[in-house]
Amino acid sequence: MSSSTVLQCLKSWKLPPSLCLKICLSLSTFVLVFFLVHKANLYNPTAEFNFSHAVRHYTTTTASVVGDGEPTNISHILFGLGGSAKTWPKRRPYVELYWQPNVTRGFVWMDQKPPENETWPETSPPYKVSADTSSFNYTCWYGDRSAIRLTRIIKESFELGLKNVRWFVMGDDDTLFFPENLVTVLAKYDHNDLYYIGVDSESVEQDVTFSYKTAFGGGGYAISYPLAEELVQILDGCVNRYAQLYGGDQKIQACVSEIGVQTTKERGFHQVDIRGSSYGLLAAHPVAPLVSLHHIEAVDQLFPSSTRVESYKKLVKAYKMDSGRILQQSICYDLRRNWSISVSWGYTVQLYPSLLTAKELETALGTFQTWNSWSDQPFVFNIRSVSDPCRRPVVYFMDRVESVGREETRSTYVRYGDVLEKKCNGDNYTATMRVDFVNINAPQFSQDLWNKAPRRQCCEVMSNSNVGESIVEIKVRGCHRFESVTPPK
Ligand SMILES: *[C@@H]1O[C@H](CO)[C@@H](O)[C@H](O)[C@H]1NC(C)=O
Ligand SMILES: *[C@@H]1O[C@H](CO)[C@@H](O)[C@H](O)[C@H]1NC(C)=O
Ligand SMILES: *[C@@H]1O[C@H](CO)[C@@H](O)[C@H](O)[C@H]1NC(C)=O
Ligand SMILES: *[C@@H]1O[C@H](CO)[C@@H](O)[C@H](O)[C@H]1NC(C)=O
Ligand SMILES: *[C@@H]1O[C@H](CO)[C@@H](O)[C@H](O)[C@H]1NC(C)=O
Ligand SMILES: *[C@@H]1O[C@H](CO)[C@@H](O)[C@H](O)[C@H]1NC(C)=O
Ligand SMILES: *[C@@H]1O[C@H](CO)[C@@H](O)[C@H](O)[C@H]1NC(C)=O
Repeated sequence: MSSSTVLQCLKSWKLPPSLCLKICLSLSTFVLVFFLVHKANLYNPTAEFNFSHAVRHYTTTTASVVGDGEPTNISHILFGLGGSAKTWPKRRPYVELYWQPNVTRGFVWMDQKPPENETWPETSPPYKVSADTSSFNYTCWYGDRSAIRLTRIIKESFELGLKNVRWFVMGDDDTLFFPENLVTVLAKYDHNDLYYIGVDSESVEQDVTFSYKTAFGGGGYAISYPLAEELVQILDGCVNRYAQLYGGDQKIQACVSEIGVQTTKERGFHQVDIRGSSYGLLAAHPVAPLVSLHHIEAVDQLFPSSTRVESYKKLVKAYKMDSGRILQQSICYDLRRNWSISVSWGYTVQLYPSLLTAKELETALGTFQTWNSWSDQPFVFNIRSVSDPCRRPVVYFMDRVESVGREETRSTYVRYGDVLEKKCNGDNYTATMRVDFVNINAPQFSQDLWNKAPRRQCCEVMSNSNVGESIVEIKVRGCHRFESVTPPK
């Protein structure tokens, strides 16, 4: 069974879904075994590999200064965004949420010149028109030739010869970047070394088709200057050599693979290859700085009472108040009432009228489906079911966030009607449903914490949250020594 048959099957649904699923499952098992064997090989000391680069990285790393001494900042990043005349008008508002003229550097690469009579706004990234690609081969029958253009953005960006570029960051025009966190992540790595940083897809079917090693283009990925320098030498050859590959990101991975450079996975990049509501994913974000969110038009709006643009605006507002903390999860119990509380800072709070384990609460609620086949799973992380109404949380969404004092924020979360709530046959929910607001006080999150071993921050229910009242007051903070989310005996 060739993989193209599977693809054909997946794409056209000419075969019955059950057969597709079987083929997919056997293929994913194969890929998993292959991946494990391959991964094991990476750590095999006898494998042919020159570790001197890696060793240099570990020996020169101090808190946040790597390589040249000067820490990486936003000016060292050159963005290369894949745009098009057709998509840009709708997507511009999202890009402008994070784009800061004269601070963020880079271009949106268009397939054609914008109309002469329209002025390009200063609030947008400046544009460039991609070079003609008609001389290149593209043979993926279900794909689009525009993939060639997107593949070559790294080369065209590099050839601009701009000064002081340490990282080329590629993304789509429907990718929302969180630049401060992107800087935090990239500053951990020595930009003088060869790095390819990003993340695979959430949906296993996507990784099976497009490779677990691909740093998916919509989630965005970063290529260090020296890797870009090597890549551009062979890139056009790769475009033709991998003419059968569907996407630009896949072609880049194939080309990077010729150099032998591996994917450095950073869990804060998000391809968001999911359908439906991304709620569960964002409410249980991995302990990593939020770097990007893709498919912002494909998934439901984040806040049920707002439009998509308004939702992202709200999230970005919280991000600007405390960039390192955005979407960071904290879990605590209210032992006076045997409640569990899960916070995803800047976005949502969940209240459960029972004591759930931390392990359960850090597992994403399956509020979404896979990207291609709209199935309930599998994803590259575990999910928990939302089908049992008695395991569902009462859900609160962030309404506002403000600074209090110099180094602290206070955010307010409001119960939003019927998100996950279904009547549970029991009176456990009566008391939790009486809570209309949750307030959270949190100190400014120090980006330095991302240079330490990742640990979820702790929270506590404040004693002024009186039992029976409609407000719960919570404080989020770093954990104390020996503190854990452990239910009482
Ligand atoms: C490993 O790489 C370093 C630096 O690039 C080089 O000086 C050294 O000769 C290489 N060692 C081997 C065994 O190839
Ligand atoms: C970024 O770092 C460079 C040094 O490499 C420095 O000259 C520049 O002022 C810094 N820019 C910002 C925005 O911090
Ligand atoms: C960006 O810098 C240029 C040149 O210094 C200036 O003319 C322009 O007004 C600036 N744009 C914004 C939006 O600050
Ligand atoms: C520019 O010209 C096109 C057609 O030539 C027209 O449809 C469009 O409305 C014009 N835009 C502006 C801003 O005048
Ligand atoms: C493109 O494909 C054609 C037909 O397979 C082949 O003859 C040609 O050499 C290819 N061109 C390049 C640049 O690889
Ligand atoms: C909380 O749970 C513990 C252990 O299950 C139980 O002993 C205690 O009575 C409960 N407290 C309340 C207020 O329900
Ligand atoms: C209600 O909560 C108690 C513990 O607080 C738990 O034992 C019981 O199973 C819960 N009932 C339902 C229906 O979830």
